[in-house]
Amino acid sequence: MKREFLLFSVLISCGPNTGEHKPLNLEFRVTGAIDFSTVKPVFAKYCASCHPSRSAPNWLEYSLALPYVSNGLLRQRVVIERSMPPPGSPQAESLTDRERNLIAQWINAGAPLTSPRQRLESADRSDSDMVAESCVSCHGTAGPQTSSNNYIPKLGGQNLKYLERQLHDYKWFERIDPSNEMNQIAASLDEKMISKVSEYFANSNSMAKLGRDGTDTYLQEPYQTGSRIADNACNSCHMNRQLNGRPSSEFVPALRGQSEQYLINQLLYFKRGLRKNPLMETIAKRLTREEIKAISVYYASESQ
Ligand code: HEC
Ligand code: HEC
Ligand code: HEC
Repeated sequence: MKREFLLFSVLISCGPNTGEHKPLNLEFRVTGAIDFSTVKPVFAKYCASCHPSRSAPNWLEYSLALPYVSNGLLRQRVVIERSMPPPGSPQAESLTDRERNLIAQWINAGAPLTSPRQRLESADRSDSDMVAESCVSCHGTAGPQTSSNNYIPKLGGQNLKYLERQLHDYKWFERIDPSNEMNQIAASLDEKMISKVSEYFANSNSMAKLGRDGTDTYLQEPYQTGSRIADNACNSCHMNRQLNGRPSSEFVPALRGQSEQYLINQLLYFKRGLRKNPLMETIAKRLTREEIKAISVYYASESQ
Protein backbone atom coordinates (compact mmCIF):
# COMPACT_ATOMS: atom_id res chain seq x y z
CA MET A 1 0.00 0.00 0.00
CA LYS A 2 2.76 2.36 1.08
CA ARG A 3 4.68 1.56 -2.06
CA GLU A 4 1.70 2.28 -4.34
CA PHE A 5 1.13 5.51 -2.51
CA LEU A 6 4.69 6.68 -2.93
CA LEU A 7 4.74 5.87 -6.60
CA PHE A 8 1.43 7.58 -7.05
CA SER A 9 2.65 10.74 -5.40
CA VAL A 10 5.79 10.85 -7.48
CA LEU A 11 3.82 10.45 -10.68
CA ILE A 12 1.40 13.15 -9.60
CA SER A 13 4.23 15.43 -8.63
CA CYS A 14 5.70 15.07 -12.11
CA GLY A 15 2.38 16.71 -12.96
CA PRO A 16 1.46 18.82 -15.95
CA ASN A 17 4.35 20.49 -17.64
CA THR A 18 4.37 24.22 -17.04
CA GLY A 19 7.68 25.07 -18.66
CA GLU A 20 7.89 26.77 -22.01
CA HIS A 21 9.62 23.85 -23.75
CA LYS A 22 7.93 20.79 -25.09
CA PRO A 23 6.88 18.19 -22.51
CA LEU A 24 9.65 15.93 -21.27
CA ASN A 25 9.30 12.32 -20.42
CA LEU A 26 10.16 12.13 -16.75
CA GLU A 27 8.32 8.88 -16.08
CA PHE A 28 10.37 6.20 -14.46
CA ARG A 29 10.11 2.47 -14.46
CA VAL A 30 9.60 0.25 -11.49
CA THR A 31 12.17 -2.50 -11.16
CA GLY A 32 10.60 -5.62 -12.55
CA ALA A 33 11.69 -8.52 -10.40
CA ILE A 34 10.37 -10.66 -13.22
CA ASP A 35 11.24 -14.34 -13.41
CA PHE A 36 9.85 -17.68 -14.55
CA SER A 37 7.33 -17.75 -11.72
CA THR A 38 5.76 -14.57 -13.18
CA VAL A 39 5.04 -16.12 -16.58
CA LYS A 40 4.39 -19.71 -15.55
CA PRO A 41 0.75 -19.05 -14.58
CA VAL A 42 0.20 -17.38 -17.97
CA PHE A 43 1.59 -20.44 -19.75
CA ALA A 44 -0.53 -22.70 -17.55
CA LYS A 45 -3.71 -20.81 -18.34
CA TYR A 46 -3.29 -20.19 -22.07
CA CYS A 47 -0.90 -22.77 -23.48
CA ALA A 48 -1.05 -25.95 -21.47
CA SER A 49 -4.30 -27.11 -23.08
CA CYS A 50 -2.55 -27.60 -26.44
CA HIS A 51 1.14 -27.93 -25.53
CA PRO A 52 3.22 -30.07 -25.14
CA SER A 53 2.55 -31.10 -28.68
CA ARG A 54 4.58 -32.18 -31.66
CA SER A 55 5.30 -28.56 -32.46
CA ALA A 56 6.02 -26.97 -29.11
CA PRO A 57 7.15 -28.01 -25.65
CA ASN A 58 5.63 -28.12 -22.21
CA TRP A 59 5.93 -24.43 -21.37
CA LEU A 60 5.71 -25.16 -17.66
CA GLU A 61 9.16 -26.77 -17.75
CA TYR A 62 11.79 -24.03 -17.64
CA SER A 63 14.50 -26.10 -19.31
CA LEU A 64 12.16 -27.01 -22.19
CA ALA A 65 10.89 -23.46 -22.69
CA LEU A 66 14.36 -21.86 -22.70
CA PRO A 67 15.47 -23.09 -26.18
CA TYR A 68 12.40 -21.37 -27.66
CA VAL A 69 13.53 -18.12 -26.08
CA SER A 70 17.03 -18.56 -27.50
CA ASN A 71 15.86 -19.41 -31.02
CA GLY A 72 13.42 -16.50 -31.02
CA LEU A 73 10.30 -18.57 -31.76
CA LEU A 74 8.51 -17.69 -28.52
CA ARG A 75 8.99 -13.97 -29.14
CA GLN A 76 8.10 -14.30 -32.79
CA ARG A 77 4.85 -16.22 -32.29
CA VAL A 78 3.55 -14.63 -29.09
CA VAL A 79 4.91 -11.09 -29.16
CA ILE A 80 5.61 -10.10 -32.76
CA GLU A 81 3.12 -12.06 -34.90
CA ARG A 82 0.69 -12.64 -32.07
CA SER A 83 -0.10 -15.92 -33.82
CA MET A 84 0.04 -17.90 -30.56
CA PRO A 85 -2.34 -18.88 -29.03
CA PRO A 86 -3.89 -19.45 -32.49
CA PRO A 87 -6.08 -16.49 -33.48
CA GLY A 88 -9.72 -17.38 -33.04
CA SER A 89 -9.08 -19.92 -30.26
CA PRO A 90 -10.72 -19.27 -26.87
CA GLN A 91 -7.22 -18.94 -25.36
CA ALA A 92 -6.32 -16.16 -27.80
CA GLU A 93 -9.57 -14.39 -27.05
CA SER A 94 -9.01 -14.33 -23.30
CA LEU A 95 -5.24 -13.67 -23.18
CA THR A 96 -4.94 -10.00 -22.20
CA ASP A 97 -2.35 -7.55 -23.57
CA ARG A 98 -0.94 -7.23 -20.08
CA GLU A 99 -0.32 -10.97 -19.92
CA ARG A 100 1.21 -11.02 -23.39
CA ASN A 101 3.38 -8.13 -22.27
CA LEU A 102 4.57 -10.09 -19.24
CA ILE A 103 5.89 -12.78 -21.57
CA ALA A 104 7.61 -10.05 -23.64
CA GLN A 105 9.17 -8.53 -20.53
CA TRP A 106 10.38 -11.89 -19.32
CA ILE A 107 12.05 -12.54 -22.68
CA ASN A 108 13.58 -9.04 -22.65
CA ALA A 109 14.96 -9.61 -19.17
CA GLY A 110 16.85 -12.62 -20.50
CA ALA A 111 14.23 -15.19 -19.41
CA PRO A 112 15.53 -15.53 -15.84
CA LEU A 113 14.53 -18.57 -13.80
CA THR A 114 14.81 -16.67 -10.55
CA SER A 115 14.80 -12.94 -9.91
CA PRO A 116 17.95 -11.19 -8.67
CA ARG A 117 16.33 -10.82 -5.26
CA GLN A 118 15.76 -14.53 -4.97
CA ARG A 119 19.36 -15.12 -6.02
CA LEU A 120 20.46 -12.78 -3.26
CA GLU A 121 18.27 -14.61 -0.77
CA SER A 122 19.81 -17.93 -1.70
CA ALA A 123 23.40 -16.60 -1.78
CA ASP A 124 25.80 -17.71 0.92
CA ARG A 125 25.81 -14.71 3.27
CA SER A 126 29.38 -15.25 4.36
CA ASP A 127 30.61 -15.04 0.80
CA SER A 128 30.82 -11.38 -0.22
CA ASP A 129 31.68 -12.18 -3.84
CA MET A 130 28.51 -14.20 -4.17
CA VAL A 131 26.45 -11.41 -2.64
CA ALA A 132 28.09 -8.84 -4.92
CA GLU A 133 27.33 -11.06 -7.93
CA SER A 134 23.64 -10.75 -7.14
CA CYS A 135 23.95 -6.95 -7.11
CA VAL A 136 25.75 -7.01 -10.44
CA SER A 137 22.73 -8.62 -12.11
CA CYS A 138 20.87 -5.32 -11.67
CA HIS A 139 23.65 -2.76 -11.30
CA GLY A 140 26.31 -4.14 -13.61
CA THR A 141 29.94 -3.61 -12.66
CA ALA A 142 30.51 -0.61 -14.85
CA GLY A 143 26.77 -0.02 -14.90
CA PRO A 144 23.91 -1.70 -16.69
CA GLN A 145 24.35 -1.33 -20.41
CA THR A 146 20.82 -1.43 -21.78
CA SER A 147 18.69 1.68 -21.80
CA SER A 148 15.72 -0.09 -20.23
CA ASN A 149 17.85 -0.24 -17.08
CA ASN A 150 18.48 3.45 -17.15
CA TYR A 151 16.74 4.00 -13.83
CA ILE A 152 19.22 1.72 -12.01
CA PRO A 153 22.33 3.54 -10.77
CA LYS A 154 25.83 2.53 -11.76
CA LEU A 155 27.98 1.75 -8.74
CA GLY A 156 31.42 0.99 -10.20
CA GLY A 157 34.01 3.46 -8.91
CA GLN A 158 31.50 5.24 -6.65
CA ASN A 159 32.81 6.67 -3.37
CA LEU A 160 33.16 4.02 -0.66
CA LYS A 161 31.75 6.07 2.23
CA TYR A 162 28.86 7.27 0.10
CA LEU A 163 27.92 3.69 -0.85
CA GLU A 164 28.05 2.52 2.76
CA ARG A 165 25.87 5.38 3.88
CA GLN A 166 23.25 4.74 1.19
CA LEU A 167 23.05 1.07 2.10
CA HIS A 168 22.57 2.00 5.76
CA ASP A 169 19.92 4.51 4.81
CA TYR A 170 18.03 1.93 2.75
CA LYS A 171 18.41 -0.65 5.52
CA TRP A 172 16.90 1.65 8.14
CA PHE A 173 14.35 3.23 5.78
CA GLU A 174 16.03 6.62 5.93
CA ARG A 175 16.01 6.43 2.16
CA ILE A 176 13.08 4.85 0.37
CA ASP A 177 13.40 3.14 -2.98
CA PRO A 178 9.96 3.59 -4.55
CA SER A 179 10.37 0.29 -6.40
CA ASN A 180 10.88 -1.31 -2.99
CA GLU A 181 13.85 -3.38 -4.15
CA MET A 182 16.72 -1.75 -2.31
CA ASN A 183 15.11 -1.48 1.12
CA GLN A 184 14.51 -5.20 1.26
CA ILE A 185 17.92 -6.01 -0.18
CA ALA A 186 19.80 -3.73 2.22
CA ALA A 187 17.82 -5.01 5.18
CA SER A 188 19.21 -8.46 4.49
CA LEU A 189 22.85 -7.26 4.72
CA ASP A 190 24.70 -7.00 8.02
CA GLU A 191 27.27 -4.29 8.79
CA LYS A 192 30.23 -6.35 7.69
CA MET A 193 28.62 -7.26 4.39
CA ILE A 194 27.67 -3.63 3.75
CA SER A 195 31.35 -2.64 3.98
CA LYS A 196 32.46 -5.57 1.86
CA VAL A 197 30.06 -5.07 -1.04
CA SER A 198 30.68 -1.31 -0.93
CA GLU A 199 34.39 -1.98 -1.25
CA TYR A 200 33.72 -4.35 -4.12
CA PHE A 201 31.95 -1.63 -6.12
CA ALA A 202 34.17 1.26 -5.03
CA ASN A 203 37.17 -0.68 -6.34
CA SER A 204 35.64 -1.90 -9.59
CA ASN A 205 35.70 -0.01 -12.90
CA SER A 206 34.61 3.56 -12.91
CA MET A 207 31.09 4.15 -14.12
CA ALA A 208 32.30 6.91 -16.42
CA LYS A 209 33.20 5.68 -19.85
CA LEU A 210 36.62 6.45 -21.26
CA GLY A 211 36.60 9.19 -23.84
CA ARG A 212 33.71 10.46 -25.89
CA ASP A 213 31.55 7.94 -27.69
CA GLY A 214 31.77 9.65 -31.07
CA THR A 215 28.42 11.40 -30.79
CA ASP A 216 28.36 15.16 -30.52
CA THR A 217 25.79 15.34 -27.71
CA TYR A 218 28.09 17.69 -25.86
CA LEU A 219 27.81 20.34 -28.55
CA GLN A 220 24.03 20.40 -28.37
CA GLU A 221 21.12 21.25 -26.10
CA PRO A 222 20.18 20.27 -23.48
CA TYR A 223 23.77 19.21 -22.67
CA GLN A 224 25.01 22.79 -22.99
CA THR A 225 22.46 24.12 -20.52
CA GLY A 226 23.16 21.23 -18.16
CA SER A 227 26.87 21.86 -18.34
CA ARG A 228 26.42 25.56 -17.57
CA ILE A 229 24.25 24.94 -14.51
CA ALA A 230 26.50 22.16 -13.23
CA ASP A 231 29.61 24.31 -13.53
CA ASN A 232 27.97 27.06 -11.52
CA ALA A 233 26.05 25.10 -8.93
CA CYS A 234 27.12 21.45 -8.70
CA ASN A 235 30.62 20.64 -9.85
CA SER A 236 32.49 22.17 -6.92
CA CYS A 237 31.05 19.22 -4.97
CA HIS A 238 30.30 16.53 -7.56
CA MET A 239 33.02 16.90 -10.17
CA ASN A 240 35.78 19.01 -8.69
CA ARG A 241 38.33 20.14 -11.23
CA GLN A 242 41.08 20.51 -8.62
CA LEU A 243 40.49 16.85 -7.73
CA ASN A 244 40.65 15.61 -11.29
CA GLY A 245 36.87 15.52 -11.58
CA ARG A 246 36.39 13.51 -8.38
CA PRO A 247 33.79 14.60 -5.80
CA SER A 248 34.93 16.97 -3.06
CA SER A 249 34.43 14.47 -0.23
CA GLU A 250 33.94 10.73 0.34
CA PHE A 251 30.30 11.37 1.23
CA VAL A 252 29.51 13.16 -2.02
CA PRO A 253 28.52 10.85 -4.88
CA ALA A 254 30.28 10.85 -8.24
CA LEU A 255 27.76 11.68 -10.98
CA ARG A 256 29.96 11.48 -14.06
CA GLY A 257 28.65 8.73 -16.33
CA GLN A 258 25.69 7.94 -14.04
CA SER A 259 22.46 6.61 -15.63
CA GLU A 260 20.34 9.46 -16.97
CA GLN A 261 16.91 8.35 -15.81
CA TYR A 262 18.30 7.51 -12.38
CA LEU A 263 19.63 11.06 -12.01
CA ILE A 264 16.31 12.55 -13.10
CA ASN A 265 14.49 10.39 -10.56
CA GLN A 266 16.79 11.32 -7.67
CA LEU A 267 16.56 15.04 -8.40
CA LEU A 268 12.77 14.76 -8.52
CA TYR A 269 12.77 12.82 -5.23
CA PHE A 270 14.90 15.53 -3.58
CA LYS A 271 12.72 18.25 -5.08
CA ARG A 272 9.59 16.65 -3.65
CA GLY A 273 11.18 15.73 -0.33
CA LEU A 274 10.81 12.01 -1.03
CA ARG A 275 14.54 11.54 -0.60
CA LYS A 276 15.82 13.30 2.48
CA ASN A 277 18.92 15.44 2.46
CA PRO A 278 18.56 19.08 3.57
CA LEU A 279 21.29 20.32 1.25
CA MET A 280 20.17 18.49 -1.89
CA GLU A 281 16.50 19.16 -1.19
CA THR A 282 17.17 22.91 -1.13
CA ILE A 283 19.23 22.72 -4.31
CA ALA A 284 16.74 20.54 -6.22
CA LYS A 285 13.75 22.67 -5.23
CA ARG A 286 15.24 25.52 -7.22
CA LEU A 287 15.59 23.47 -10.40
CA THR A 288 12.85 23.31 -13.03
CA ARG A 289 11.95 20.05 -14.74
CA GLU A 290 13.78 21.20 -17.88
CA GLU A 291 16.90 21.99 -15.89
CA ILE A 292 16.76 18.60 -14.20
CA LYS A 293 16.58 16.90 -17.57
CA ALA A 294 19.45 19.02 -18.92
CA ILE A 295 21.72 18.37 -15.94
CA SER A 296 21.02 14.63 -16.11
CA VAL A 297 21.83 14.49 -19.82
CA TYR A 298 25.05 16.37 -19.07
CA TYR A 299 26.28 14.07 -16.29
CA ALA A 300 25.16 10.88 -18.05
CA SER A 301 27.22 11.75 -21.12
CA GLU A 302 30.32 12.97 -19.27
CA SER A 303 33.35 10.75 -19.70
CA GLN A 304 36.72 10.52 -18.03
C1 HEC B 1 -5.52 -24.10 -29.30
C2 HEC B 1 -4.25 -24.78 -29.23
C3 HEC B 1 -2.99 -23.94 -28.93
C4 HEC B 1 -2.82 -23.07 -27.91
C5 HEC B 1 -3.81 -22.64 -26.84
C6 HEC B 1 -1.43 -22.62 -28.00
N1 HEC B 1 -0.83 -23.19 -29.08
FE1 HEC B 1 1.08 -22.90 -29.67
N2 HEC B 1 0.78 -24.15 -31.28
C7 HEC B 1 -0.39 -24.80 -31.55
C8 HEC B 1 -0.25 -25.53 -32.81
C9 HEC B 1 -1.32 -26.38 -33.49
C10 HEC B 1 1.08 -25.27 -33.27
C11 HEC B 1 1.74 -25.80 -34.56
C12 HEC B 1 1.23 -25.04 -35.75
C13 HEC B 1 1.83 -23.68 -35.85
O1 HEC B 1 3.06 -23.55 -35.75
O2 HEC B 1 1.06 -22.71 -36.02
C14 HEC B 1 1.68 -24.38 -32.28
C15 HEC B 1 2.97 -23.88 -32.37
C16 HEC B 1 3.55 -23.07 -31.43
C17 HEC B 1 4.90 -22.54 -31.53
C18 HEC B 1 5.82 -22.73 -32.70
C19 HEC B 1 6.76 -23.88 -32.51
C20 HEC B 1 7.64 -24.10 -33.73
O3 HEC B 1 8.55 -24.94 -33.60
O4 HEC B 1 7.44 -23.42 -34.76
C21 HEC B 1 5.12 -21.81 -30.41
C22 HEC B 1 6.40 -21.05 -30.06
C23 HEC B 1 3.92 -21.88 -29.60
N3 HEC B 1 3.01 -22.64 -30.26
C24 HEC B 1 3.77 -21.24 -28.39
C25 HEC B 1 2.58 -21.18 -27.69
C26 HEC B 1 2.41 -20.47 -26.46
C27 HEC B 1 3.54 -19.74 -25.70
C28 HEC B 1 1.12 -20.59 -26.12
C29 HEC B 1 0.43 -19.93 -24.94
C30 HEC B 1 0.62 -18.52 -24.77
C31 HEC B 1 0.47 -21.39 -27.14
N4 HEC B 1 1.40 -21.74 -28.07
C32 HEC B 1 -0.86 -21.73 -27.12
C33 HEC B 1 -1.52 -24.79 -30.80
C34 HEC B 1 -1.75 -24.02 -29.68
C1 HEC C 1 16.43 -5.94 -8.49
C2 HEC C 1 17.46 -5.02 -8.87
C3 HEC C 1 18.48 -4.62 -7.83
C4 HEC C 1 19.34 -5.44 -7.12
C5 HEC C 1 19.41 -6.97 -7.16
C6 HEC C 1 20.18 -4.58 -6.33
N1 HEC C 1 19.84 -3.28 -6.56
FE1 HEC C 1 20.72 -1.62 -5.70
N2 HEC C 1 19.38 -0.41 -6.65
C7 HEC C 1 18.38 -0.83 -7.50
C8 HEC C 1 17.57 0.33 -7.91
C9 HEC C 1 16.37 0.31 -8.84
C10 HEC C 1 18.15 1.45 -7.25
C11 HEC C 1 17.67 2.91 -7.33
C12 HEC C 1 16.57 3.09 -6.34
C13 HEC C 1 16.13 4.50 -6.20
O1 HEC C 1 15.76 5.11 -7.21
O2 HEC C 1 16.19 4.99 -5.06
C14 HEC C 1 19.28 0.95 -6.49
C15 HEC C 1 20.13 1.78 -5.72
C16 HEC C 1 21.26 1.33 -5.06
C17 HEC C 1 22.22 2.19 -4.39
C18 HEC C 1 22.21 3.70 -4.33
C19 HEC C 1 23.21 4.24 -5.32
C20 HEC C 1 23.36 5.73 -5.33
O3 HEC C 1 24.05 6.25 -6.25
O4 HEC C 1 22.84 6.40 -4.44
C21 HEC C 1 23.18 1.37 -3.85
C22 HEC C 1 24.38 1.79 -3.04
C23 HEC C 1 22.81 0.00 -4.19
N3 HEC C 1 21.65 0.01 -4.93
C24 HEC C 1 23.56 -1.12 -3.82
C25 HEC C 1 23.18 -2.44 -4.08
C26 HEC C 1 23.88 -3.59 -3.57
C27 HEC C 1 25.14 -3.55 -2.74
C28 HEC C 1 23.20 -4.70 -4.02
C29 HEC C 1 23.48 -6.17 -3.74
C30 HEC C 1 23.61 -6.56 -2.35
C31 HEC C 1 22.08 -4.22 -4.83
N4 HEC C 1 22.10 -2.85 -4.83
C32 HEC C 1 21.18 -5.03 -5.48
C33 HEC C 1 18.15 -2.12 -7.92
C34 HEC C 1 18.80 -3.25 -7.45
C1 HEC D 1 27.79 21.39 -1.22
C2 HEC D 1 27.94 20.18 -1.96
C3 HEC D 1 26.89 19.85 -3.03
C4 HEC D 1 26.43 20.64 -4.05
C5 HEC D 1 26.79 22.08 -4.36
C6 HEC D 1 25.54 19.81 -4.84
N1 HEC D 1 25.45 18.56 -4.28
FE1 HEC D 1 24.37 17.00 -5.01
N2 HEC D 1 24.87 15.87 -3.39
C7 HEC D 1 25.69 16.29 -2.35
C8 HEC D 1 25.72 15.27 -1.30
C9 HEC D 1 26.46 15.32 0.01
C10 HEC D 1 24.88 14.21 -1.78
C11 HEC D 1 24.55 12.91 -1.05
C12 HEC D 1 23.23 13.02 -0.35
C13 HEC D 1 22.87 11.75 0.40
O1 HEC D 1 23.72 11.25 1.15
O2 HEC D 1 21.75 11.27 0.19
C14 HEC D 1 24.39 14.62 -3.07
C15 HEC D 1 23.57 13.83 -3.88
C16 HEC D 1 23.19 14.16 -5.18
C17 HEC D 1 22.52 13.27 -6.09
C18 HEC D 1 22.16 11.81 -5.86
C19 HEC D 1 23.19 10.93 -6.53
C20 HEC D 1 23.01 9.45 -6.35
O3 HEC D 1 23.94 8.70 -6.73
O4 HEC D 1 21.98 9.03 -5.85
C21 HEC D 1 22.30 13.97 -7.24
C22 HEC D 1 21.64 13.47 -8.50
C23 HEC D 1 22.85 15.30 -7.04
N3 HEC D 1 23.40 15.38 -5.78
C24 HEC D 1 22.82 16.30 -7.99
C25 HEC D 1 23.26 17.60 -7.75
C26 HEC D 1 23.07 18.69 -8.69
C27 HEC D 1 22.39 18.56 -10.04
C28 HEC D 1 23.63 19.80 -8.12
C29 HEC D 1 23.66 21.20 -8.67
C30 HEC D 1 22.42 21.78 -9.15
C31 HEC D 1 24.18 19.39 -6.84
N4 HEC D 1 23.92 18.06 -6.65
C32 HEC D 1 24.88 20.22 -5.98
C33 HEC D 1 26.41 17.47 -2.30
C34 HEC D 1 26.24 18.54 -3.17
